[in-house]
Amino acid sequence: MSTRLCVPVRWMRRRARSLSLVAAGVLGAAVPPAWATEPVVIQVDAAAAKPISPDLFGIFFEDINYAADGGLYAELVQNRSFEYRPTEQRGWNPLTSWDLVQRDGGRGALHVDAGRPLHPNNPHYAVVDVQHVGGGVGVSNPGFDGIVVRKGAAYDLSLFVRQLYVERRWGGPPFGADDAFSLTAQLEDAAGAVLGQTTLSYSGTDWQRVAGAIVADADCDAARLVVLFSTQGGAAIDVVSLFPRETFRGRANGLRKDLAETIAALAPKFVRFPGGCLVHGNGLPNMYRWKDSIGPIYERREQPNLWGYHQTLGLGYFEYFQFCEDVGAKPLPVVPAGVSCQNSGYTAGRGQEGLPMAEMAAYIQEVLDLIEWANGPATSEWGAKRAAAGHREPFGLEYLGVGNEEHITPAFEERFRAIEKVVREKHPEIVLIGTVGPFHSGPDYDEGWRIANALKLPMVDEHYYESPRWFVENLQRYDKYDRAKSAVYLGEYAAHDEGRRSTLRSALAEAAYLTHLERNGDVVRLASYAPLLAKEGRTQWRPDLIYFSNASVRPTINYEVQKLFGVNAGDRWLATTVEGAASADVAVSSVQDSSTGAIVLKIVNRAVESRSLVVRGAALAAGRATCTVLAGSPDAVNGSDPAEDLKPTTTDIAVGPSFAYEAPASSLTVLRLE
Ligand code: AHR
Repeated sequence: MSTRLCVPVRWMRRRARSLSLVAAGVLGAAVPPAWATEPVVIQVDAAAAKPISPDLFGIFFEDINYAADGGLYAELVQNRSFEYRPTEQRGWNPLTSWDLVQRDGGRGALHVDAGRPLHPNNPHYAVVDVQHVGGGVGVSNPGFDGIVVRKGAAYDLSLFVRQLYVERRWGGPPFGADDAFSLTAQLEDAAGAVLGQTTLSYSGTDWQRVAGAIVADADCDAARLVVLFSTQGGAAIDVVSLFPRETFRGRANGLRKDLAETIAALAPKFVRFPGGCLVHGNGLPNMYRWKDSIGPIYERREQPNLWGYHQTLGLGYFEYFQFCEDVGAKPLPVVPAGVSCQNSGYTAGRGQEGLPMAEMAAYIQEVLDLIEWANGPATSEWGAKRAAAGHREPFGLEYLGVGNEEHITPAFEERFRAIEKVVREKHPEIVLIGTVGPFHSGPDYDEGWRIANALKLPMVDEHYYESPRWFVENLQRYDKYDRAKSAVYLGEYAAHDEGRRSTLRSALAEAAYLTHLERNGDVVRLASYAPLLAKEGRTQWRPDLIYFSNASVRPTINYEVQKLFGVNAGDRWLATTVEGAASADVAVSSVQDSSTGAIVLKIVNRAVESRSLVVRGAALAAGRATCTVLAGSPDAVNGSDPAEDLKPTTTDIAVGPSFAYEAPASSLTVLRLE
């Protein structure tokens, strides 16, 4: 890309420099040049409207930055199935996060075994060997950096257990199916004080699931779960699980309520999952295979997460689809295109690998099975599995991504074409989304588009992470896209400011870009910021849209922008022009929501001073409009002191076929005319 700055950028820089000199007292009081005080004229022409995608703004969910396990997925126990491996993180093993507990003279040992697993997909389990009962022998688990419990809240515990098959100490027969045992599970604070407990009974020496509830009698941000046995011999345990009773929409195996509510507030029209690079995986065995992620959690095939940790797949396809339904969004699953990630080499040195062509027919059937699972009747083979999981009605899958920003090699192309051919033949109703590499231009982009054009793909997935300046210099990118070719899903984007901070500057660059996505909403049908979630202290990628800890949720300013666009989306773009000498930093779009008739103007002013605007349009009925403004210093960042966070404020203003509006410095304004 050329390093020459375009005129508006040079002007912005000069302007910012002179303003800071004024602020520093180096220059005299600013006398704005005449052109800067002339109003910017915004003309809204409803007669020249065009339909735009009603699904434009959605979200990209990937299990990166502990977004799923330890994040949105509400499971509180870490390594619940004893499947952590040394290949996932240095020092990890099946007993990571588990410690032996020996109370009041109790004596025992803890080891991992694989001799009589609960399920072949879940090979390891823990054995608590109780040599001397004392006050109990068992295990403790601190969750993901401490378990947050709240006074009065209920926590649902479940685990699989079987008594060890040992001779009774007094020489009697071994334990049998009729023998009864009990275990005690408790939540404890760091000092060992019990915050709540339950006692569960079980019998015999075969695996069985036991469950109960613990009600906390105090708050604690760093509790641990302790499971104690008091029978000589001990027990084997697996899938030790603890969920807050209160999950998002009260779902079993559900999602963390505060985080899910923060996501739902974005009013996403679609949810893309499960990634990102996670989809194609770190080498072929690590591809995300959707069938591994459905069914009872103890049958799911856990696996390494290419972002350097572990995926239980507890948040699997059923949970993703259910979440989409719960938030009124369309599901957008992305399946691997039969090749692994080209960056797989960082652990294995292999780079992109393709499934053997001999396996492709079976793999393509797997993709067809997904469509049947989502949309088939409950009487179909895969629809029956969906129904058995609790969703008899089809989910209504419309979009399906195949591949994620692959290096477009011959191996990729051969496999992608094979999948595309069968899926589109058998399911012309599905919008198949291809991939055009990891950047906005370059060889993979060109090659991806070559394939898209040759196959007349319904849609392609573009990705780019760039500076705020790149975004404002490329506002016109989609104006020139050929409407006869594939539509665009802008599947991953974010403006990365210096220091990878989520500043108002980056948020306004994104906001300006979004106004142009609306303008081009006939060709750009879907768009999602990436990544969505990041856990503080467990982050592999910056910036992200929403940061969180175990006890709090911290949306960025960029989140506020996404939310304003999400809740103020439309399905018709009203032709809008912006003119005037001081219009370089102003970006505007006008949309209409045909279900309510509301007209929404989104006005971005990136200048560091306010802008006088005159808004004209015969369709703008005289009355009052709600006026929501997000404004502040371009360097503002939310999070260090939540009391100081930049949040939008709402008032109302008089509007009509011609009205004046002063757009504050560095601001996004949303004017909503009902
Ligand atoms: O969003 C983070 C990563 O960026 C995604 O996994 C990948 O698709 C892209 O490179």
